[in-house]
Amino acid sequence: MGIVLGIESSCDETAAALVDSGRRVLAQRIASQDEAHRPYGGVVPEIAARAHAERLAPLIAATLADAGMELGEVDAIAATAGPGLIGGVMVGLVTAKALAMAEDKPLIAINHLEGHALSPRLADLALQFPYLLLLVSGGHCQLLLVKGVGQYRRLGTTIDDALGEAFDKTAKILGLGYPGGPAVERLAREGDPRAVPLPRPLLGSAEPHFSFAGLKSAVLRARQAGIHADADIAAAFQQAAIDCVIDRTHKALQAIDMPSALVVAGGVAANQAMRSALEELAGEFGLPFVAPPPALCTDNAAMIAWAGIERLGQSDPLDFAARPRWPLDPDAAPVRGAGVKA
Ligand code: KG4
Ligand code: ZN
Repeated sequence: MGIVLGIESSCDETAAALVDSGRRVLAQRIASQDEAHRPYGGVVPEIAARAHAERLAPLIAATLADAGMELGEVDAIAATAGPGLIGGVMVGLVTAKALAMAEDKPLIAINHLEGHALSPRLADLALQFPYLLLLVSGGHCQLLLVKGVGQYRRLGTTIDDALGEAFDKTAKILGLGYPGGPAVERLAREGDPRAVPLPRPLLGSAEPHFSFAGLKSAVLRARQAGIHADADIAAAFQQAAIDCVIDRTHKALQAIDMPSALVVAGGVAANQAMRSALEELAGEFGLPFVAPPPALCTDNAAMIAWAGIERLGQSDPLDFAARPRWPLDPDAAPVRGAGVKA
């Protein structure tokens, strides 16, 4: 039995968690910075970094107190070392290094994307490798074959915006505030998805890549036309996004040998309408569908601690550098037409 302290600070959540190898989350705390970033309609890196620096140490102390534990009782300290907003990543990683050094514990540097990718295994005891993972968050939109810890094959990625980004921009266009995903989903329930014709970029294309920039522009034009109800635009956007996701995931499933399951993770995996559509698709392929509970889908430290459990025994050097970019599959070919985010 091992216990890992996990630290997450790569975007706008400051989080700490204690997880054991029996898949128990002993304690976890998340300090969201939504209020600080709301006036700007998105995450401001400088504000995020400062907030992490102020909040992280007391948050870790409180997490340990919640579990009735001392730092000396943990077996390792795992922190997100990238990819993400570099100021925030550095706060978490340097804090983890200091704690590891002070307590003479191993440091485990975690790829934030691996945290998302392995999080379904914290939630589901039965989930075995290899599984097809749809990773959809504010910064990432990928289809990955998860073959094992540290073994990822990227099948598809976005050539422009991430899916969460598209939700956030749609929310901004509709004046729904930040963060946008949950607000768009709520409003979409009251709308008619057929009332507004919107494009489905890359639908049917050979490789399972994504594109959402054109959809976002179409949402903007639909709003500016001034003839549609906001709820109808939200519903139409969400349906178009889901249609793209299902088509692309279908392509990926056809391209690989039968995986053990279809899995979704990342912040957008909290979207119930998308979960239902993916579950139906999994059913068509006779596959189990696995989606972590919504709180484990959005950024959190339990997934980082869990990735630390999966890597227990490993130790990273105290000079491990924070990485603004850190692909899970370094061998993946660049996508034609892709911008800097690929
Ligand atoms: O994984 P995450 O917390 O942070 C990143 O690593 O990016 O994902 C945040 C993203 C945001 O874009 C947010 O709008 C989106 O996930 N999101 C949702 C929902 N809940 C969060 N998108 C659609 N529907 C939701 N219910
Ligand atoms: Zn994330």
